[in-house]
Amino acid sequence: MAIILDGKSLSKKIKNNLKDEVKQLNSKGIFPKLAVIMIGKDPASSVYVKNKSKACKYIGIEFEEFLLDENISEEELFNLIDNLNNDNKITGILLQAPIPKHLDINKAFERISPKKDVDGFNPINVGKLSIGIDTFISCTPLGIMKIFEEYKIELQGKNVVVLGRSNIVGKPMVQCLLSKNATVTICHSKTQNIEEITKRADILISAIGKPKFVKENMIKDGAVVIDVGINRLDNGKLVGDVDFDKIESKTSYITPVPGGVGPMTIACLMENVIKSVKNK
Ligand code: GUN
Repeated sequence: MAIILDGKSLSKKIKNNLKDEVKQLNSKGIFPKLAVIMIGKDPASSVYVKNKSKACKYIGIEFEEFLLDENISEEELFNLIDNLNNDNKITGILLQAPIPKHLDINKAFERISPKKDVDGFNPINVGKLSIGIDTFISCTPLGIMKIFEEYKIELQGKNVVVLGRSNIVGKPMVQCLLSKNATVTICHSKTQNIEEITKRADILISAIGKPKFVKENMIKDGAVVIDVGINRLDNGKLVGDVDFDKIESKTSYITPVPGGVGPMTIACLMENVIKSVKNK
């Protein structure tokens, strides 16, 4: 039987520690504050933003939401970002992705001050991560690294295969794994014979957003499987990228969906917001 990697409990532990830290900061007159920008009405994004706001409230982090019309111009968006960059009360800024197609997300992330970029998506912070300078690290990879640490899952010299090459998860994940001396392979939509590669993985991390993509024949016995996918089926059920029921008994450790990586992403965002007060 596999050990279930309980991201929910671990995230709770982290959030409780952060709650104490915020109390101490407050007593010194320091108040972390997160500004979240959401453009349009993507239903999944609304759920994520609500969860982020709930976590802030729980920990005692101030939170302000900016809901923008989906037709907003680049100039208007950049004006808002500039105002938040210059606002002394705001310590962290997050632009919820995805944003409407007429806007360039990379330009928008670049506009957010690297000192307030709690998502770690500004190119300065992406670059710092890649050369090993302490900075804001993208929250999902950071959360996965904390799971490895908590469960003492060794990375050095291990074959780790990452499915998905997004700027939000896949690419920063590779940097985090390399920093711990793992041997990393990244697979994507154009990769050929994907199962031959995944079958060699000691650790498989899936972040592609396709329900039940990772099947029994794709993993080796005793592999560690991390499921980043959050896919909503037509019946409303939330499932990951991994065919959990069929695979679980073949793995040594596996994350559930929900209750695995998702809560860790939020806990790490909270950690980054608290880290942002140091840049004030
Ligand atoms: N959309 C999906 N995941 C994320 C994330 O981690 N940060 C932001 N800003 N948007 C997202």
